[in-house]
Amino acid sequence: MRDDDLKGPKYFNTALYPRASFNSLKLNRNKAGKYVLSGVFGLHGLKKNVDLTLTEPPQIVTKAGKQSLSISATGAIEQSHYGLTLKRLHPDGFVKVNDKIAIKVMVKANAVAIKGPAIRVEKTKKNFGVVEEGIELSCNFMVHNDGDKPLRIYETKSTCGCTLASMKKKLIAAGGREALKVVMDTSMKQGPVTKEITIRSNDGKKSALSIFVSADVRNPHQNLGKNVQTKIFQGRCAACHVNRGLGKVGEELYLADCAMCHGLMGGGAVGPSLVRLDYSNKGMAEAVSQIIANGSPSHRSMPGFSKKVGGPLSDSEIESIVKHLQQLSQLESGVVR
Ligand code: HEC
Ligand code: HEC
Repeated sequence: MRDDDLKGPKYFNTALYPRASFNSLKLNRNKAGKYVLSGVFGLHGLKKNVDLTLTEPPQIVTKAGKQSLSISATGAIEQSHYGLTLKRLHPDGFVKVNDKIAIKVMVKANAVAIKGPAIRVEKTKKNFGVVEEGIELSCNFMVHNDGDKPLRIYETKSTCGCTLASMKKKLIAAGGREALKVVMDTSMKQGPVTKEITIRSNDGKKSALSIFVSADVRNPHQNLGKNVQTKIFQGRCAACHVNRGLGKVGEELYLADCAMCHGLMGGGAVGPSLVRLDYSNKGMAEAVSQIIANGSPSHRSMPGFSKKVGGPLSDSEIESIVKHLQQLSQLESGVVR
């Protein structure tokens, strides 16, 4: 009975105004962190602005390349704003009705399907912060296909051999996702480093997409402590102080093993200049070989390079370096043959 009253000409007048409508205009987040859906609510032939509060955060669902948004919200309208006066239905005043009427809306919006394969990477940057030198860092990037056709990954390539990017599956179905694993080796790095990885795919709009990994590599020489002379050829130190010289002789061996401390042209750096010495003096040349082989008795930074004392070099390799030093010193003193 009451339903008929409500539908009747005294109230909603559904014969004349069969529809209530809601036109959403914008979705915002208020200061309290709640989502508010603003729009125009039409009822009883009148339209007014209303703000509705979402009962839960909006849900975005991607399915087979189609994105849809679903929202449920509640709020209240004042019936008098719509020319409605329910009270008049009860002139005897027995029923007290609030002017406010609660309303509830559910919105489902379908976005247009993205045509073809469409690549998206969830977060394109990863920073590992401060890390030790000589370790491996790894992380996963999530690669999505928001399109309606399979996404094929052709290549995941880094600018540096120290960083490898790999994917188990190279074909991602429409609406699917796959992890891209990145491993960065910090050996022989110092200070801040950033490496770029390019993902090439059959996405026509983003055929090359870049992601980045970065880290701040701690100086390997901090807190060296004692026994530096023996440490320098071991473990992670060997990456810079031994390995680069393996299989080399003469100038190349000098550049790999000695130049970091004595300068590219032997002019001196952490260690003293080696080109000021007179290598034509047999005794001098012999003394130099001795220091290279056995290290400096007085300075921790000049280790003995001979295999006999735990170093990486043979006698003939040491000899080839002394020859190179002699040439450098001749260049230095202007004696050009
Ligand atoms: C990333 C490459 C690299 C690694 C790893 C490395 N070094 Fe060095 N080292 C260098 C370079 C380059 C120099 C030249 C001076 C400089 O830049 O500090 C050097 C200089 C030195 C020196 C002379 C300077 C000083 O402070 O007395 C010592 C000693 C030394 N390294 C010891 C070591 C030891 C021990 C390790 C392992 C804990 C090590 N290094 C690891 C590259 C490296
Ligand atoms: C980690 C740094 C470092 C490396 C690497 C290094 N040196 Fe040295 N070298 C020094 C230092 C420091 C001295 C000074 C030692 C002293 O004062 O007793 C020195 C001294 C010397 C001397 C004696 C110079 C003099 O005037 O008494 C010679 C020769 C020498 N180095 C040659 C070499 C050669 C050759 C290599 C490569 C095989 C090499 N060094 C690698 C740091 C280094």
